[in-house]
Amino acid sequence: MSRDLWGELDDYLEARLTTVDERLSQVLEANAQAGLPPHDVSLLQGKFLSLLARIHGAQRVLEIGTLGGFSTIWLARAVAPDGSVVTLEVNPQHAAVAQQNLEQQECAEVVQIRIGDALETLADIHQANEPPFDFVFIDADKSRNAEYLEWSLKLTTPKAVIVIDNVVRSGDVLDAELDDPSVQGVRAVMDAVQQRPELSATALQTVGSKGHDGFVMILVD
Ligand code: DHB
Ligand code: MG
Repeated sequence: MSRDLWGELDDYLEARLTTVDERLSQVLEANAQAGLPPHDVSLLQGKFLSLLARIHGAQRVLEIGTLGGFSTIWLARAVAPDGSVVTLEVNPQHAAVAQQNLEQQECAEVVQIRIGDALETLADIHQANEPPFDFVFIDADKSRNAEYLEWSLKLTTPKAVIVIDNVVRSGDVLDAELDDPSVQGVRAVMDAVQQRPELSATALQTVGSKGHDGFVMILVD
């Protein structure tokens, strides 16, 4: 199976399973124009996250890593009109692009972008005793995945769902010796999950327009 075929299959599935409104082509164009790295989740993956949040009945979502807000919009649509999304972004330029996209997609009212180092923002949220989250999407600096998981566990309700992106990285995660902080960050968070019996977890490997990667899904029992 080639990457071209995976991409063609994504096109085929998108055409049948998503609406024009869901394809968010203006958002993807704005992100590309602004020179953001092409690290958004795919359209089908965005809809997967959105459906998962809806199936779970999520009302208060935490996203770590906003980028241009593509997955944020999917999560916002899942919780609207009564829920909320708090999304953390270290890069002010990325946050500005995301804010524009959210406004253009009429999602801005349910989303708060917090600019800054996510580890500091997470500590601030904890310190301020903000209401807990029931759904978390971790998709930021992979080298800090284990720390992001630890904070997520401090900031969530019982039975919260936590999803982590990019846990396969074309198979690179198998290489314990690889000198790649992202890969070692994924391996660290996998070890952290293994050491916590209160977490029920699985992973889904994915292929598609973004190549071969995967999500970890956790239910906090
Ligand atoms: C990378 C980051 C992502 O969040 C992603 O979905 C794909 C790739 C990266 O940093 O390489
Ligand atoms: Mg990602």
